[in-house]
Amino acid sequence: MMRKHASPARSFRVGILGAGFISDLHIAALKTLPFVEVCSVCDQASGKAALTGERWNIPQVYSSLEEMLEKSSLDVIHILLPPDRHFEAALACLEAGVDVFLEKPLATSSEECDALLRTSARSGRRAGVNHNARYHPALERLKTAIRAWRFGRVQHVAAAINLPLRQLSQGQHDHWMFRSPGNIVLEQAPHPLSQIQLLVGNVESVSALASGRQLLNTGQPFYNTWQISMVCERGSAQCSLSFGGGFPVSTLQVTGEDAVAFVDLRTNRVQISEQTRFLEPVDHLLDGVRNGSAAMRQGAENFVNYGLSFLKLKASNDPFFAGIRASVRAFYEALREGSPLPVDLEQASAVITACERIVHSAGGERLNYTDISKEIAHAG
Ligand SMILES: NC(=O)c1ccc[n+]([C@@H]2O[C@H](COP(=O)([O-])OP(=O)(O)OC[C@H]3O[C@@H](n4cnc5c(N)ncnc54)[C@H](O)[C@@H]3O)[C@@H](O)[C@H]2O)c1
Repeated sequence: MMRKHASPARSFRVGILGAGFISDLHIAALKTLPFVEVCSVCDQASGKAALTGERWNIPQVYSSLEEMLEKSSLDVIHILLPPDRHFEAALACLEAGVDVFLEKPLATSSEECDALLRTSARSGRRAGVNHNARYHPALERLKTAIRAWRFGRVQHVAAAINLPLRQLSQGQHDHWMFRSPGNIVLEQAPHPLSQIQLLVGNVESVSALASGRQLLNTGQPFYNTWQISMVCERGSAQCSLSFGGGFPVSTLQVTGEDAVAFVDLRTNRVQISEQTRFLEPVDHLLDGVRNGSAAMRQGAENFVNYGLSFLKLKASNDPFFAGIRASVRAFYEALREGSPLPVDLEQASAVITACERIVHSAGGERLNYTDISKEIAHAG
């Protein structure tokens, strides 16, 4: 029996808006879906659109969204523009009767998110957001353990990111993420915040500190360290974000009633500790043996996958791409089935609201002062 709203035979004509870094990953993910045809690509830099069209054999190439909307008959457009362009592009697509799949961050303010929610409701068009960090293969392993009820209730998540930012070290400080101190939060925090949202629900309150202030070559201040504590719907969370220095880190520590997990997203490994029925010293020994062999097994699996995809014997299984591929697939499967989208406008808006609260708690407008005397005056 066919499910209500289901249209399993439905196929999609898709357009790509923005032919920058992330577009190749979206197109590669779309090419794995037999019911999707990538028909059009559009970039205001027409040379980039043409190159992407050639590389991926995409027949229609445009340099403006208006032209793509007018000339291509599309079901879905992937909005892969810089964050401050997401809102107006999504609005135009929804109003033209096209569904959208947006890159994170959904938009740059709660007001924009609210307007998108209203437009989507009014037009009856759907909007999904690429929160691919929720689909990282290491997190998938953790989700399997949580679904098997090995953790009981998840109570606390601690996320840590240390990102050596190429644009920061190479002096490309005109990038959108450096134009205001809060932009780096909107650009990078949706990754851990979307994972936190999945594990303990929406963020309800925030306390944040920004430090490591430096002046960029544009004269703008930049804060390279953000320490964030959060109360969420079903538990609590912490997130530390640091940029531009040291060893690259991307980890989650997830504490449940019955177990704790350490998820290393960089090495794509998960370590889970849970109590056994044995005395503590034996329990600790078993934990070491179990986690030692799990680390070796996961490390070996990752290495073999890398080798097979390097030799083109298997589709790429790079964890970053695997997350994007799974996120894109989940969006289209929901569209096809007429079921709730995996990351809808409401969920993605909640992440933007959390970003705003973080920036506000860390100082808001005061973070923008380039002149220290103004800060002293403001402090009274
Ligand atoms: N999910 C992830 O892990 C991930 C990783 C990187 C980037 N992103 C996100 O993807 C988005 C794009 O990032 P990117 O790194 O590909 O950026 P990019 O700068 O490489 O590409 C953006 C492209 O958009 C084009 N463009 C800008 N305004 C336009 C307009 N009005 N009409 C048509 N084209 C226009 C630019 O010419 C450029 O080619 C951002 O929102 C970013 O945060 C997500």
